[in-house]
Amino acid sequence: MKQSCSNQLLALGLSLVALCALIQLELPSWVSSSKINHSNGQAATLIVPTSEISAGDERQLQQEPSCSALSPTRLPLAVGEEEFHLGLDRKFVERMNFTLAFQYLFLDRDIHNGAAAVQEFDLAFYEAWSDSNDGALVAKQGRVDGNATDISGGYDEACHGVFQATLSPTHIVDNIQNLNPFSVHMQGTDCRIRQGFMDAYFNGYLDNFRDAMQRCVALCVPATGEPCPVVLSGLSQGGGVAIVAALDLKAYDMDPTIITFGAMRAVVGHDPAFPCTDLDTSRHFRFTNSNAAGQYDAIANQRFPADNIQVGHSILLDEINYPMLYLGLDEDRDRFPWSVDMHHRNSYRDRINGLLAMPDDCFPIPLGKWPAGHICHNDDECHGTCVSWTCTDSLLVGGHPCDTDEDCESGSCTWRIGWFHLLRLCE
Ligand SMILES: *[C@@H]1O[C@H](CO)[C@@H](O)[C@H](O)[C@H]1NC(C)=O
Ligand SMILES: *[C@@H]1O[C@H](CO)[C@@H](O)[C@H](O)[C@H]1NC(C)=O
Ligand SMILES: *[C@@H]1O[C@H](CO)[C@@H](O)[C@H](O)[C@H]1NC(C)=O
Repeated sequence: MKQSCSNQLLALGLSLVALCALIQLELPSWVSSSKINHSNGQAATLIVPTSEISAGDERQLQQEPSCSALSPTRLPLAVGEEEFHLGLDRKFVERMNFTLAFQYLFLDRDIHNGAAAVQEFDLAFYEAWSDSNDGALVAKQGRVDGNATDISGGYDEACHGVFQATLSPTHIVDNIQNLNPFSVHMQGTDCRIRQGFMDAYFNGYLDNFRDAMQRCVALCVPATGEPCPVVLSGLSQGGGVAIVAALDLKAYDMDPTIITFGAMRAVVGHDPAFPCTDLDTSRHFRFTNSNAAGQYDAIANQRFPADNIQVGHSILLDEINYPMLYLGLDEDRDRFPWSVDMHHRNSYRDRINGLLAMPDDCFPIPLGKWPAGHICHNDDECHGTCVSWTCTDSLLVGGHPCDTDEDCESGSCTWRIGWFHLLRLCE
């Protein structure tokens, strides 16, 4: 029974991947920052003590376009091992916007028309490569001499490596890469990586890519005197490739930040022989999408084969991102139900546009848990608990289905025999 069920799920997963590939899985993203430390002028995130962060009721936010007008309700924010919490500053969100824009370049235009790309994005550095089904580019804003002190505001003084998402719905080679169940030890690292993402990175233009990244970094001299930020990004398949790239570029003295949108699982986990400690997952900001109907990105939540893991700071976007849902470092839960639309690059672009439309005093946008009233499917999404698909802050009364003792007023969630199944109810 269990076996056939998981077979069905697997088949469903496979067909969804194929469907996705059919529908456009593309999307890239950019990442920046060295440590999560705002003392570096280019860092993408801020360390904000919990006590300084507050978040307001989301309905109020919709009516009142000023975050300071919100009545602050203190929420416990993401609990990380490091005892600090994250907030996204506007610069980081602009960087997300910049990286994602290149996915449109990959898919809709000619990436080899460098002059057009340079003009459109006001770039100081641009090189791009593609083969039959994969593509990569290196881009940097600012001046070509990299003299950051001469740059007026608004530029992203970082070297971006961007990886193309699945080319088209029906692209056979891409889909073979995405569905390839085999994995391989990545030489020089303690990681085991899915073959398809290795193939998409270790291709004919890799030497050119590495060389361009190095030249870009050499040009880039931030006014802060810090090393040039290196940001690797990708959407969907490109997100998985960005992880491989981050591991590879360590050998070239780069310490990239990774920004992914709806990334597929590239890392094979749970094998003591390959703990993958060479990947600094705390530098990976993994955005996935959801919506007010309670649906989640259908591809980011695929687990094929079963031993693949998601890594990085798991951040879930939806229509209202204040606070933005932070699920934890290396959080790996598959979330249902799925929506293929929530994987589309346009849906990520819409979310980013929504973030950039927020008033200045909303920044840095706190990362925490959804407040009471928000739709949910799992307790880890809520400040309180998820009851009947709605976040609630109140404890459950006796007889209500529960997951843990903490859910219940009585402090006791116990097993009961129901019709044909066991369930847990509050005492
Ligand atoms: C942030 O960086 C500064 C300067 O590089 C350093 O002194 C400080 O300890 C760092 N903070 C954290 C939390 O890493
Ligand atoms: C987001 O990116 C697009 C495409 O590059 C650009 O036209 C737009 O101005 C950006 N938005 C913001 C708020 O920076
Ligand atoms: C970059 O800035 C420094 C310091 O202002 C200056 O000495 C140098 O000439 C500048 N380089 C270029 C290429 O403009």
